[in-house]
Amino acid sequence: MTDVRLRSSMEVQRGLFMAESFNVIQRAMDSGCAPRSFLMSQKWVEQFAPLFTRFPDVPVFVGEESLLESLTGFHLHRGALAAMQRPEMPAASELLEGARTVAVLENIVDHTNVGAMFRSAAALDVDAVLVTPQCADPLYRRSIRVSMGTVFQVPWTRLGAWPHAHHPPGEETAHDGVDLLHDAGFDVLALALSDGAVALDQVDLSPGRKVAFVLGAEGHGLAHATLQAVDQHVVIPMSGQVDSLNVAAASAVVFWQRRAASGIR
Ligand SMILES: C[S@@+](CC[C@H](N)C(=O)[O-])C[C@H]1O[C@@H](n2cnc3c(N)ncnc32)[C@H](O)[C@@H]1O
Repeated sequence: MTDVRLRSSMEVQRGLFMAESFNVIQRAMDSGCAPRSFLMSQKWVEQFAPLFTRFPDVPVFVGEESLLESLTGFHLHRGALAAMQRPEMPAASELLEGARTVAVLENIVDHTNVGAMFRSAAALDVDAVLVTPQCADPLYRRSIRVSMGTVFQVPWTRLGAWPHAHHPPGEETAHDGVDLLHDAGFDVLALALSDGAVALDQVDLSPGRKVAFVLGAEGHGLAHATLQAVDQHVVIPMSGQVDSLNVAAASAVVFWQRRAASGIR
């Protein structure tokens, strides 16, 4: 349970994710995720009883806290874990139907940033989130926790292909995520610090325009192929000789600007 790399590959492969704490487990179940098993100490059993009755055949393992700690490798201060069935990922084209504001998370590696971006997306009226093939897992424990469970609320899926998805230059998959967004009528806006990028407050974000905001990885920013494929580069002007914002902070700024331009109060 404490090996991030092992969990990141194993959980996806085996079609499961781990939910921790009553609120998160309840939220996941309310969003349609089915539990495979529960693990907790005795003191939580009563509170969980209504959840157990929804899935009477799912095993509930109950043990002393010290045993739980030795099994999981960490102190379960929120008391309970559930192994949950990973939901089927919808097709991106399905998510884009009816959406007007979309965020694309390109290869974000930090689960904290992924979770924070989902939280902002939920709060600031983003209709769907697309994560690129290499992006960290929104259903990893820390992403779920930092998102405050909004990974179960905001519609999202993982793209099968993206310009940067480790294809050598010139060998990008033809029908990748950018094409998909264009086909669905979206203008694709890269949040980038490139020369010539348009300042955010000068960009037309009126509700008539369907927009997809692409946000890049913490270290290198957006891939060259992405910067070439998008319609517009957008920069959030900064002062104080700071070279960039944290990507989750940048996402909140741009989502808010879109929300304000859409007249949402
Ligand atoms: C920490 S930044 C990466 C910085 C990287 N050195 C670069 O030049 O892009 C991570 C991501 O946050 C977004 N970002 C951060 N600050 C921004 C700003 N002032 N304007 C637009 N996007 C920004 C971009 O999408 C960027 O790829």
